[in-house]
Amino acid sequence: MAETLLEVRNLHVQFDTYDGVAEVINGVDFTLNRGETAALVGETGCGKSVTVKSIMGLLPAAEITAGEIIYKGQDLLELSDAERHARRGREISMIMQDPMTSLNPVLTVGEQMIDVLKWQGERRLSVTDWLRDKVSRRSDADHRERAIEMLADVEISAPERVFSSYPVELSGGMRQRVLIAIALLSEPNFLIADEPGTALDVTTEAKVLDLLDELVEDRNTSVLYITHDLGVAREVSEFINVMYAGEIIEQAPTAELFADPEHPYTRGLLESIPTLSSGIGGGIEGHLPDYTDPPAACRFAERCPHAESKCSEVVPYPRKTADDHTVACHLFDGEAAHDRHQKLAQERVDIGSPPWREGSETETGSDVVADGGASK
Ligand SMILES: Nc1ncnc2c1ncn2[C@@H]1O[C@H](COP(=O)(O)OP(=O)(O)OP(=O)(O)O)[C@@H](O)[C@H]1O
Ligand code: SF4
Ligand SMILES: [Mg+2]
Repeated sequence: MAETLLEVRNLHVQFDTYDGVAEVINGVDFTLNRGETAALVGETGCGKSVTVKSIMGLLPAAEITAGEIIYKGQDLLELSDAERHARRGREISMIMQDPMTSLNPVLTVGEQMIDVLKWQGERRLSVTDWLRDKVSRRSDADHRERAIEMLADVEISAPERVFSSYPVELSGGMRQRVLIAIALLSEPNFLIADEPGTALDVTTEAKVLDLLDELVEDRNTSVLYITHDLGVAREVSEFINVMYAGEIIEQAPTAELFADPEHPYTRGLLESIPTLSSGIGGGIEGHLPDYTDPPAACRFAERCPHAESKCSEVVPYPRKTADDHTVACHLFDGEAAHDRHQKLAQERVDIGSPPWREGSETETGSDVVADGGASK
């Protein structure tokens, strides 16, 4: 049976803003198994980065108003700053979405990379193939060589020059690659990649995905891959968590999600993927709700083509439609996925069954499966 590495339970994050309290993350639950690559997918502003910043300990404690983040059996939210800091790098590493604020402007790229290698010290002894030939107690020259090799691996064409450059001297795409190189250099057990492909061209993104694959295979690394693009998620992950307005609205193994998407939002996202047959995809009309005044029940109701009045009155708790498939929508029945919703489950709201299942095949899923890009 798969071993759980990370379990996020009922996470709530709020921010004080000029407009009031923004309830951005509203009861997020998901798990990640050892050696698994899972994706967290959703449109811009849905709370992906806030979720992973919570995991990394990058938010002030006061903003996380409830929840648990269990990593290797320990609740990270109960650790001191020093204890959490000690886990960063080798244990948990993150490719940040914003390269400019993530690199230290007063150190060269090389100085920052050598710091990472030195900091790991002796723990470099057991490593993957792409490190194994240059092991143990390296001198600065060895570190330099390894760092430059890593820069070349992320398709930086003049790695020596970049090694000696300050972040401000590099383009946005170059800085993104440097961040990726730094994150991979520490060979973490758990890697969070927050939209690592945003500033990259397709070739480099493919190379980065290959490097991630290598890391996963060689070291049994677990990866949480953040993206707004379900097509990318499909390429990289075995399991997908779909997020909307600070909630996980559907979770399923990747193949299952594409074959049988359930939540109307997931179906909308799938329709947004360009296909060979239809060209540019359709997309979902409307906007995310205001987090300072979120809808009382289904946060997707205003944009949902299947909404009934009850959807705005009764919370659609996540329910299990199969062993490892959950969906938070009143169109589906099933056991509550989390104990805290057992009571709600007894008073199920019935708004009928999914209209697309009445007598016809799943159009969205089958179209994308047939045409929407190659799988691994
Ligand atoms: N420190 C903060 N204070 C107030 N609001 C914040 C803060 N950080 C994030 N937010 C808000 O939380 C919401 C979710 O932000 P987040 O960065 O997690 O989105 P995202 O899903 O990562 O989007 P993107 O795909 O654009 O990166 C946004 O509305 C954002 O403005
Ligand atoms: S609960 Fe209602 S509004 Fe929300 S996604 Fe399901 S059908 Fe649409
Ligand atoms: Mg983000």
